[in-house]
Amino acid sequence: MAENSNDGLMRTLSAATRFESQVLDCDVIGKIPADINGAFYRVGAEWFYPPKFADDAILNADGYVSSFRIRNGRVDYTGRWVRTQRFDRNREAGRQLFGYYRNPFTDDPAISDPQHPNTRTVSNTAPLVHHGKLYTLKEDGLPYLIDPLTLETQGTWDAFGTWKSETFSAHPKLDPLTGEMVSYGYEANGLASDDLYIATLNSQGRVSDSVTVKVPYVSVIHDMALTHRHVVIPFGGYVTGMERLREGKIHWGWDKTKPSVIGVIPRGGSARDMRWFEGPERCMMHTFNAVTEGDKVILYAPFFDSNFFPFFPNVDGAPFNPAGARAFIRKITLDLGKRGNNWQEEILWPMQVGDLGKVDPRVLSLPTRYLYTQFYDETKPIDRAIVGSAGPARPSNCYGRFDLETGQLDTYFAGPTHVLQECSFVPRPSGQEGDGYLVGVATNYAEDRAELVIADAQRLGEGDVARVILPFKISQQVHGVWADARELGLG
Ligand SMILES: [Fe+2]
Repeated sequence: MAENSNDGLMRTLSAATRFESQVLDCDVIGKIPADINGAFYRVGAEWFYPPKFADDAILNADGYVSSFRIRNGRVDYTGRWVRTQRFDRNREAGRQLFGYYRNPFTDDPAISDPQHPNTRTVSNTAPLVHHGKLYTLKEDGLPYLIDPLTLETQGTWDAFGTWKSETFSAHPKLDPLTGEMVSYGYEANGLASDDLYIATLNSQGRVSDSVTVKVPYVSVIHDMALTHRHVVIPFGGYVTGMERLREGKIHWGWDKTKPSVIGVIPRGGSARDMRWFEGPERCMMHTFNAVTEGDKVILYAPFFDSNFFPFFPNVDGAPFNPAGARAFIRKITLDLGKRGNNWQEEILWPMQVGDLGKVDPRVLSLPTRYLYTQFYDETKPIDRAIVGSAGPARPSNCYGRFDLETGQLDTYFAGPTHVLQECSFVPRPSGQEGDGYLVGVATNYAEDRAELVIADAQRLGEGDVARVILPFKISQQVHGVWADARELGLG
């Protein structure tokens, strides 16, 4: 692919915003419940400078962090770039110096230290709140520490020197009972390395236990799941290697001949305790939750049938197949009491869903009743004249609460001109699982602006209780998280 010389190239999936902003005391439609006090943090990506290669992955775009601070029914919005080392070096040069997603061999010669991941990471995937701190994450480097009020970038973080991997997952899991974080880094010891580092961090943010294992093959390990006894590591399909990187290709290719793999290791276990289970072709990006019941580990996850990302090409040269990029809510059961491979899989709802799912954080790693995610309900009215021309082909117009106990689906519909991004769960203090709110950003294509919608998670069918209005569109979110004011000392 020729280098991109088109200065007018679109810098993101939709129109670029690029500016940093603060909106104090935002307009609100409806009434924000008085018991909401905290901040909704969200992280996404867009190109500050256009990519060096026009067919590069949007996953390689610069990180952007934003927050909705909610207190006493009022809201302040802040949005800023994550000032990574890479962002600063590009700014200094006045252009994009970095090549393909996770391939330093395609960087501008001006980059002198291409092997170090924190030179290249854009920290654009997910926010993390733990031990009273806010971070932005991306799986190819270390977290960046962010000021929770100003969103100023304060530098990389290595768990006070205790983290022993070059990389850190964008999806660590927090144990609601112990306050521990379990995280991992894959390609832990350099590009295409087969080392997977798994660690527990205590409630003060220091590694208290760690193990390094060899993976069956090097692949995207984007998310994990945690039970009260086990760490669950799903991956499959994507492949890489030094050869393809030296050839100047994007980091990942899709190899449909590779099995899906789920690793299960006891929390605190050693490398020899890891068991690998193999399953059919799947693109396994995100999980909802997992639970250990006796000898069985049960994983709930919205996995895709096959490759979801068109910018990670098939290694056999076949064209991208959009029909394979369909996600369903799956229940995968692995029996540790039996020898050998015993992957059992069931699709729980027949409908396609978005794969950015959440549970109430109070039940993470524990028995769970409700799963939440976005989806496209074709029976709901969509103003195709407006959304159809500017938005995605399958716009996420609904949030759903999927009840694992009854099979019931409760639906929040955003409106005929609105497209929803990932939701986050806001627990109501002292409540039980499911007692709280769903929050998420909707793009209003009719008004060309963003709206934060807030819905009662137990009454999704009644619509939102409040919408926070921004007078402009904001950077597309990948992931978000809700933080109670006390967690970050917001007051
Ligand atoms: Fe993710």
